[in-house]
Amino acid sequence: MSQQSNFSLDSDGFVFVTSSKKQRKTKHFVKRFVKPNTGESELVERGSVDIEQFLRCFEETQFDLKSSNYFKQTIDKVLPVLSGAKVERIICLGLGKFLECPISRHQLAFIHCLQKELHFDRQIQYFDPVFGRLEVEILEHLNGVVLRENCEGKYTVDVTTLFYLPHCPKQISNNLLWRNWSSQLLEKVFLIGNSFAGIIRNSPRRLLEKNAHFILEVEDSCREIEFKNNFKHTDIFNDTSLHYFDASSLCSKPEEFWISEEPHYTEEDLELITRNIQLGLTITAAADNGNS
Ligand SMILES: C[S@@+](CC[C@H](N)C(=O)[O-])C[C@H]1O[C@@H](n2cnc3c(N)ncnc32)[C@H](O)[C@@H]1O
Repeated sequence: MSQQSNFSLDSDGFVFVTSSKKQRKTKHFVKRFVKPNTGESELVERGSVDIEQFLRCFEETQFDLKSSNYFKQTIDKVLPVLSGAKVERIICLGLGKFLECPISRHQLAFIHCLQKELHFDRQIQYFDPVFGRLEVEILEHLNGVVLRENCEGKYTVDVTTLFYLPHCPKQISNNLLWRNWSSQLLEKVFLIGNSFAGIIRNSPRRLLEKNAHFILEVEDSCREIEFKNNFKHTDIFNDTSLHYFDASSLCSKPEEFWISEEPHYTEEDLELITRNIQLGLTITAAADNGNS
């Protein structure tokens, strides 16, 4: 059966495409970058997007988000925790291709707006193996730092760090927990990403043991503040929570609790782009370029 789409031009110059197929379980939308203010429905190919144009649209996205009840309510919930924690580093992983994808672009707007609310005046650090040259340029233009190495989420926290992992593979959170598997380090970890409680609720135990062992282990010490998913587009901030760890609960764990082995994943349920997969992709792309 064919599916009809309705197009409308959003305030920020992005074409908003909605499916009219009523029986879809989730509200599905696709938005693409178009030349702003022209009203044309012609999609701009990746690579021909003008950075200045993108930045102008991005200003509007931020304004739109900041004026939403969603943002105000979320900030009211998370600011007391994050301001109290005195965050010294923000690392954003798995944002995705924000030039093409409006979900990623709104998520980028969120961390920017949150940065302002926190009066965080250092540079946000970003990594996603799918970033292209233009994404890197734009993030640098926005005063961010793009990390070059694929650490697969294995960052050691030397200072209080907010990790922003919007809709990221659970293995990244799991790796992060493994790398900081001590009460002293976990106390410094704050993580906005897919709800741990949701991951545990929705995945078979067998897969959780393999792919999210550390998420399972730390469940009872983890404090979770759920983001109410009431933004106008419901595919952007769904299943998202702020997570942090209760110091007294962590300290009460017996010594053997902290004995840990580095996780290794099988291909089953593997969403993470590992260093090896990334290397393979780079070699294939280079070979394709050489052949063309
Ligand atoms: C499900 S997508 C989410 C994209 C976007 N945030 C969204 O909500 O649509 C998962 C993202 O994680 C990224 N990712 C996979 N492996 C990664 C790694 N090792 N380090 C950082 N990001 C990674 C992918 O490239 C992808 O952009």
